[in-house]
Amino acid sequence: MMKHLNIASIPGDGVGKEVVPEAERVLKTIAKIHGGLSFTFTHFPYSCEYYLEHGEMMPENGLDQLKPFDALFLGAVGNQELVPDHISLWGLLIKIRREFEQVINIRPAKQIKGVESPLANPNEFDLLVVRENSEGEYSSVGGTLYKGEDEIAIQNGVFSRKASERAMRYAFDLARKRNKHVTSATKSNGIVYSMPFWDKVFQEVASEHPDIDTESQHIDALAAFFVTAPEKFDVIVGSNLFGDILTDIGAGIMGSIGIAPAANINVNGKYPSMFEPVHGSAPDIVGKRVANPIGQLWTAKMMLDHFGEEELGKVLLDTIENITSDGFLTPDIGGKHSTKQVTDELIKRLKAQS
Ligand code: NAI
Ligand code: MG
Repeated sequence: MMKHLNIASIPGDGVGKEVVPEAERVLKTIAKIHGGLSFTFTHFPYSCEYYLEHGEMMPENGLDQLKPFDALFLGAVGNQELVPDHISLWGLLIKIRREFEQVINIRPAKQIKGVESPLANPNEFDLLVVRENSEGEYSSVGGTLYKGEDEIAIQNGVFSRKASERAMRYAFDLARKRNKHVTSATKSNGIVYSMPFWDKVFQEVASEHPDIDTESQHIDALAAFFVTAPEKFDVIVGSNLFGDILTDIGAGIMGSIGIAPAANINVNGKYPSMFEPVHGSAPDIVGKRVANPIGQLWTAKMMLDHFGEEELGKVLLDTIENITSDGFLTPDIGGKHSTKQVTDELIKRLKAQS
């Protein structure tokens, strides 16, 4: 049966415009090899340049335009020379994440063959962080009081059973397809209401999944273990803040932010999910044609997985590792190849396998 995916493509700013077209080229190649799959990419120019012209990051009905698509494929947003970051990010990226109820953020970290990790002698690691993406520490509940010496800021964390459970169940489902191990990031020795609650909910969800091994680790120790023994982990579930920090360590130990992928998942099916690499618009290298396409490509692999095309996703990631281990590397990971040279080689090898 023919499967057709309608993708809204938002290259955004900076290197987003350089890596998104390359990843689309790769996805189209993969679809052709597969035979039963096809993609349509509809492009949306929402970006800081769009803001300069229209006074907003996307039109008022922008979300309505994006809603009917199967998924959103986004590059990067931000150009501080044109628009302050809080306007560009909140006007586009964060707006989409919130309004489209993308309540789960997933970010894998894996040792990629041929890419040097900053860790001296890493054992092969392959982990996946599931981050609660809708509440937790990143809430707008709180306020400030007084000025000067007596100034006070209060920031409340919001932890609902519904959202905590949802993130945990998502983690267990993913673990079942992987190495059947879930680690919960906690801090119940220091944060005395929300984290014991988190632990309790985790216990409950864990008891429904007797086939999955579980453990709870305090976030500080967990952060250290990500550096000293990342191979110990399979799936890690954490609150918004803990997940945010862990995923940056994950990107760090892989060797470059230019290769780290991410997905923002809508789980109720009311809106599309959004696939975007971890990196930003990289203004320091924009226009030099050296942006690493792997972050965007791996993000494309996550999109394939999301639509049940895990086999193709695996072919894509294996072929990426195939070319990195043969030295087809952009400068951020120690090579001298251009964005296009890396993608051309990838496409050549994908075609050769078909
Ligand atoms: P950044 O991720 O754009 O760049 C950090 C460093 O990583 C730079 O040295 C850059 O050259 C390098 N880098 C990033 N992506 C790369 C790639 N694909 N290949 C090779 N090297 C790469 O973060 P920065 O500089 O803090 O932010 C720049 C702009 O991007 C800001 O406006 C920021 O707000 C925005 N941003 C947007 C994000 C998003 O759209 N999700 C995430 C992070 C930042
Ligand atoms: Mg972060």
